[in-house]
Amino acid sequence: MHDEVKQFDTISNKYASFVDEDPVRNFLHYPTVIKILGNVKGKKILDIGCGDGLFDRKLTKEYGAQVTGYDKAPDLIALAKQEENKNPLGIIYSVDDPLSFNAVGMFEESLSVMVLSYAPDADYLVNFFHSAYRALEKGGRFISVIFNPEFKAFDKVVANRIFKQKNGKIEVNFLNSKSTNSEVKFTALLNQFSTNEYTVAAQKAGFQKINWKKLYPISEGVKALGKEFWQSCEQEQPYAILITEKA
Ligand SMILES: C[S@@+](CC[C@H](N)C(=O)[O-])C[C@H]1O[C@@H](n2cnc3c(N)ncnc32)[C@H](O)[C@@H]1O
Repeated sequence: MHDEVKQFDTISNKYASFVDEDPVRNFLHYPTVIKILGNVKGKKILDIGCGDGLFDRKLTKEYGAQVTGYDKAPDLIALAKQEENKNPLGIIYSVDDPLSFNAVGMFEESLSVMVLSYAPDADYLVNFFHSAYRALEKGGRFISVIFNPEFKAFDKVVANRIFKQKNGKIEVNFLNSKSTNSEVKFTALLNQFSTNEYTVAAQKAGFQKINWKKLYPISEGVKALGKEFWQSCEQEQPYAILITEKA
């Protein structure tokens, strides 16, 4: 297993409980993807790199989608399945990566939230796009939250993170959003792929064009954490949305 993925298995419990409470996931990433998806009631959706299934439960419980998720980290899928056993929602989870996951033309939409940036290198990116392309019906989209290729505000606090450049990779320092001190709860290593690397990978998989979007927090998040918390995030845009469609 690549180090980029192993890091989620070794920190799975810590990571899952952080993400469950993480304002950036809950008020920025997930609502932006939900808005782009539109009405998903009864729609078959594939979540690539679903982690512990937090977003899948939300899409199913609150929006009525039929979700399948796969992730390479066995510990995170074990947590997702445990939750499914406790409160069954009909979500299907499997331990897979884009090369082992096998579905052809079954899904109306697909998505990934902060997964593509963990590809070990730019060549590997094409596997994620291939996996989505194969699984999608015609007209289906692959919507991804990624680390922004254009982000430059390193070494300063952005929402509850500090991003640092380390030996060609990006070290993400996750901070406690509830306190004013910047204690690092844990770190993760990811890649800042370029716009061109994403475009080439999507095209190699068969997608014809990519649309990009910025992310802004929903009003609930601004109410919960205050304008100041989000200011740097809105200005510096550490994340980007990438949308491709199967023609
Ligand atoms: C930052 S987490 C995001 C998890 C989830 N999407 C969320 O919103 O919380 C990145 C996830 O991508 C998964 N991942 C990274 N590379 C992968 C690969 N090649 N195949 C499948 N999953 C992968 C990791 O195991 C981890 O669960």
